[in-house]
Amino acid sequence: MARLGGKSALITGAARGIGRGFAQAYIREGATVAVADIDLTAAQATASELGDAAYAVHLDVSDQDSIDAAISAVVTKAGKLDILVNNAALFDAAETVDITRASYDKLYAVNVAGTLFTMQAAAKQMLDQGHGGKIINMASQAGRRGEGLVLVYCSTKAAVISMTQSAGLNLIKHGINVNAIAPGVVDGEHWEHVDSMFAKLENKKPGQKKAEVSASVPAGRFATPDDLTGMAVFLASAESDYIVSQTYNVDGGQWMS
Ligand SMILES: NC(=O)c1ccc[n+]([C@@H]2O[C@H](COP(=O)([O-])OP(=O)(O)OC[C@H]3O[C@@H](n4cnc5c(N)ncnc54)[C@H](O)[C@@H]3O)[C@@H](O)[C@H]2O)c1
Repeated sequence: MARLGGKSALITGAARGIGRGFAQAYIREGATVAVADIDLTAAQATASELGDAAYAVHLDVSDQDSIDAAISAVVTKAGKLDILVNNAALFDAAETVDITRASYDKLYAVNVAGTLFTMQAAAKQMLDQGHGGKIINMASQAGRRGEGLVLVYCSTKAAVISMTQSAGLNLIKHGINVNAIAPGVVDGEHWEHVDSMFAKLENKKPGQKKAEVSASVPAGRFATPDDLTGMAVFLASAESDYIVSQTYNVDGGQWMS
């Protein structure tokens, strides 16, 4: 039986990568999915590849008007919102002495404020509907501890873990479950970008950082988005109704907590 039959989901940053993988999995489980992204052209291409149960929505999670318009678009299209996945995020890396205000402001606007205010707008819609809902935030192993060159990103993901705890405790009385997933390293465009940044910062050859990181994963390889979809479907389904404020590591054994 489809585990998300009849559900309406909104996934931010779903034009590519992990969000795209989640959209595909939710559709397989019977949901209708808003593929929401700042890159509308890519979101439209992804939605048309995923078929009739997917539709593209323009969304910049750092802009409140854009968040409100995206929630309205979902309600207009699907009649309701049952599931939000807060997946959109930005990455940056630098020596501590080289971190810029611009980088800090950008990452906090998307990864922290974007997660909070998209979660808030979704929760308001779910409260109006009156039958609960599911909110899943994308954290990271980076939120579990610092990394020498990744201060800002790591701290935004620690904030996601903390916001998941507080929002989960606050919203469960309305039947809204807020939980998070902390991936380790997941193959895709994001990691091509990370690898090229580390190549510059640590004087490595292209691909070298990725190979070193891959060898350090206890499971012996990078994840694919498909490695994460089991947890994403579980947290969106009725099977997780009694799970509140948790962040689950899905990382091939990189972190234990
Ligand atoms: N890839 C990894 O190794 C990894 C590891 C741990 C956690 N994560 C987290 O998983 C999530 C997805 O990662 P990914 O690797 O698929 O990333 P990605 O960079 O491949 O995709 C991110 C998507 O978000 C969109 N986006 C960026 N800014 C946006 C904004 N302001 N509003 C709406 N959309 C915006 C981009 O256009 C892109 O489509 C992120 O939260 C990331 O931090 C990724």
